[in-house]
Amino acid sequence: MGEVRPIVHVGDPVLHNPCDPVTRFDDELAALVDDMFASMYAAEGVGLAANQIGVPLRVFVYDCPDDDGERHQGVVVNPELELPGLGERRLDTGDEGCLSVPGQYAPLPRPDRATVRGFDAAGQPVTVEGTGLLARCLQHETDHLDGHLYIDRLPAKRRKQLLAAYRETLSTKADISPL
Ligand code: NI
Repeated sequence: MGEVRPIVHVGDPVLHNPCDPVTRFDDELAALVDDMFASMYAAEGVGLAANQIGVPLRVFVYDCPDDDGERHQGVVVNPELELPGLGERRLDTGDEGCLSVPGQYAPLPRPDRATVRGFDAAGQPVTVEGTGLLARCLQHETDHLDGHLYIDRLPAKRRKQLLAAYRETLSTKADISPL
C-alpha cells in the first residue's frame, strides 16, 4: 500500500513547470504510483498528477466515471493526449476543480472525448479513451504534467476571482483551527 503524501497547492513552482519524462520503469516508479493512488483516494479526487505530490515526472493516476457512469481506474506514464479534430469536436461545458486549488470550481468548456496514449507502471503501452468526466480528467491531468492548471484556461478575471476566493477560504480555515 502506498503512503498518503501532502497535495501541493497552486503557486508552488512544481505545478507551474513541465514535468520530466519517465525513463526507468523500476521499483521506485511502482512505489510512486502506489503513493499517488493512496494520496488521490485520501483527498477524494478522481485524478492526480505526480507533480501534485511534488514529484516532477510525467505520471498520472485516475479513478473516474465516464459519460455512462462506468468507473475507470489506472495509471498513465508519459501520456500523449489526442483530441478530436476541430470539425468533430463537441464541447462539454461542465464545472472543473482541482485538488491543488481546493474548494474552488469553475465551468470550463473542453472536448467531450479524449484519448491518452502512454505506458503503465511496468512499461507496457496503454491507451485510455474517455468520455464525460473521464475525458475532462485525461485532459486536466495531462495539463498538470505540462505545467498548467485548469485555472490557466479560464478568462483572466474569473481566474483572479477564483484565486481570491481560494486564499479567503485558506485564511478562514486558519482562523478556525490554527494547528
Ligand atoms: Ni488537478
